Amino acid sequence: MYRTHTCGALRIEHKGTEVTLAGWVQTIRKFGSITFIDLRDRYGITQLYFDEQLNTRLDANPLGREFVIQVKGKVLERTSKNAKIPTGDIEIGVAEFTILNGAQTPPFTIEEETDGGDELRMKYRYLDLRRPTLKRNIELRYKVNRSVRNYLDTQGFWDIETPFLIRSTPEGARDFVVPSRMNQGQFYALPQSPQTFKQLLMVSGYDRYYQVVKCFRDEDLRADRQPEFTQIDCEMCFVEQEDILNTFEGLFKHVFKDVKGREITEAFPRMTYDDAMWQYGNDKPDIRFGMKIANMKAAGKVYCDALNNSEFKVFNDAETVLAIAVPGAAEYTRKQTDELTEWVKRPQIGMSGVVNIKCNADGTVKSSVDKFFNEEKLREIATFCNAGKGDLILILAGAETRSRKAMSELRLEMGNRLGLRNPDVYKPLWVIDFPLFEYDEETDHWMAKHHPFTSPKPEQIALMDDRSRYGEIKANAYDLVLNGTEVGGGSIRIFQRGLQEKMFAALGMSKEEAQDKFGFLMGAFEYGAPPHGGIALGFDRLCALLGGQEGIRDFIAFPKNNMGRDMMLDAPSAIDEAQMKELGLRS
Ligand code: AMO
Repeated sequence: MYRTHTCGALRIEHKGTEVTLAGWVQTIRKFGSITFIDLRDRYGITQLYFDEQLNTRLDANPLGREFVIQVKGKVLERTSKNAKIPTGDIEIGVAEFTILNGAQTPPFTIEEETDGGDELRMKYRYLDLRRPTLKRNIELRYKVNRSVRNYLDTQGFWDIETPFLIRSTPEGARDFVVPSRMNQGQFYALPQSPQTFKQLLMVSGYDRYYQVVKCFRDEDLRADRQPEFTQIDCEMCFVEQEDILNTFEGLFKHVFKDVKGREITEAFPRMTYDDAMWQYGNDKPDIRFGMKIANMKAAGKVYCDALNNSEFKVFNDAETVLAIAVPGAAEYTRKQTDELTEWVKRPQIGMSGVVNIKCNADGTVKSSVDKFFNEEKLREIATFCNAGKGDLILILAGAETRSRKAMSELRLEMGNRLGLRNPDVYKPLWVIDFPLFEYDEETDHWMAKHHPFTSPKPEQIALMDDRSRYGEIKANAYDLVLNGTEVGGGSIRIFQRGLQEKMFAALGMSKEEAQDKFGFLMGAFEYGAPPHGGIALGFDRLCALLGGQEGIRDFIAFPKNNMGRDMMLDAPSAIDEAQMKELGLRS
């Protein structure tokens, strides 16, 4: 038997017990003729005590960090206890030890905080995963997974697998493709999501489906994006939007209770897409704090009277002028406001500057545009922006889309600077009534905002006959947003061939192309397809947020780096000529 107990199991009540432990050497501390070693495994750390006699043997068989050893000995009460760890009252008086395997000196310290850089940690991921931080994340991920499965099981969902070697599923990213040896010159696509399969399962009458499933998307990576990631993917028959929102609000509350031990009793707020864009500048608002956008002028229409009849060209020429009132920031120095100007000028934000108005605590109002707005006008603006004494108003002016996006970023940045984005505060909400289409200026095409299987609001279907009105059509589509991150998205689906054909046509697809690509689905709709809808939650994102972080990488055991590389395997890599030939990629 390798061990009688784990390194996290022993307590004072085990005093006197003969035990065998196995684990990794975390630290070695020598005090003259005696040595203390911290032995680590997944369960915890136990202190080992090597007396004078054993110490001599230790000198002859030196141990190093990360050696794997087995020890036999007796549980002793410690003289100096360590209240920080559960095994801190005891230590093992070692009688025998065996080195099960040696270890090279690790390339970085395997501690809570490591000195290893990103690349190194990725290359030696198996060592990084030994760190308590990573271990906690992986454990949390397992618990979220278990909790999700338990909940969905009680709700009658079946876990049904769907294939990975498929034809493209349009979710807005590029496909990863796999060459077929048996069908030379042809390729499978890896699923961007199991979207069409889950819909087909509804046509089969399986009613409630779920899967914790890998999805593959070849898109530019960010902290909350990986090329392969995991979804909690679900679909239900005979449901309306309300049924889905309730079921998945229930899922979130259940997981939150299970994993965080906290109860959310109130219903999640709901916000329309239009309101989210108007008030927060994006469709995934972080509602942990206020600082809502004041639309002084939007898409050419002036809402704040103080802007009329002014000589200030910047505002007059701008399509849109947006403001936020930053609480308590009127004391910002010139240096700080200059620094904010630099911040908005960065290429990622792309604005030419930021106007500020300081609503001082003494009641005076000062602005960087005093020349154009007298004190009365400035006060009018302050009132429009809901700014109180002590607030700093920040104003951006420019083109509608860019300014709104920039203001949304600036709001989040100010939220960060003021410490208003506490990762331990959770504010979920539903964003609903998404537009059905999104216009892409570059290609002069209307694209599906969610995906092409999303149903328009039934009363707006008629508008699909008039391209000039595509922008007005709303979909039965919804996102679950948590602390400024989109954790899930879904919709009620189209389930009739005619409407699906209309949708593909609106997206600029010819009848033939639609039939070629999605004939299987439209065909299925002709064999008794029930009304259905569903949602997919980003499992990695959900885990990261529940772990108090935005980056998902450290919640995935073996992630890719920002270039989509697996640093440990050194993948992707070239394949040999023979393999290329076999696949028909070389003649
Ligand atoms: P959607 O594309 O919105 O919907 O994806 C659902 C959720 O998956 C997460 N997500 C990602 N997480 C990590 N890395 C990525 N690259 C990544 N891309 C998406 C997000 C997102 O909200 N088939 C539809 C769902 C449906 O309609 O039922 C779909 O995939 O948290």
